[in-house]
Amino acid sequence: MKRRTALKLSLLALASSYAQAFEKSKIVNTMKMKIKDPKNPTKAELKHTPEIKLGDVDAKGYVSVDVTIGQQGIIHPSTADHWIYEIALFANGKKVAKVDLEPVISRGYLSAKVKKEGLKELKAVAKCNLHGDWEETLKV
Ligand SMILES: [Fe+2]
Repeated sequence: MKRRTALKLSLLALASSYAQAFEKSKIVNTMKMKIKDPKNPTKAELKHTPEIKLGDVDAKGYVSVDVTIGQQGIIHPSTADHWIYEIALFANGKKVAKVDLEPVISRGYLSAKVKKEGLKELKAVAKCNLHGDWEETLKV
């Protein structure tokens, strides 16, 4: 094998190792889910509902936004067959950030800086491969 060919093959192998690792077939539920009784959510519902927290506003006028998955101290798991594979953040209805997550090695968390001026509403959507899409809205 020529050196150039070997180098190309090495680069291809490296590039493919950065491709998404989990199997799409593991995503078995993409339904939009809702807490059935908001006054009395179940543990399973709390485990999937994003929690949006605002932090400081920086010198450029951007507020820190942290999104974790699970409320009241209940953390959604990240195992080989059950994990949050995506979190998206919307500001005034527009998608402003998204993270893709891998089973086991990462778990549900998103952090972003969002322009505070004119910000009225933040919405986070968390996608669980087994239990569907869950959202939370925060009025700012
Ligand atoms: Fe789940």
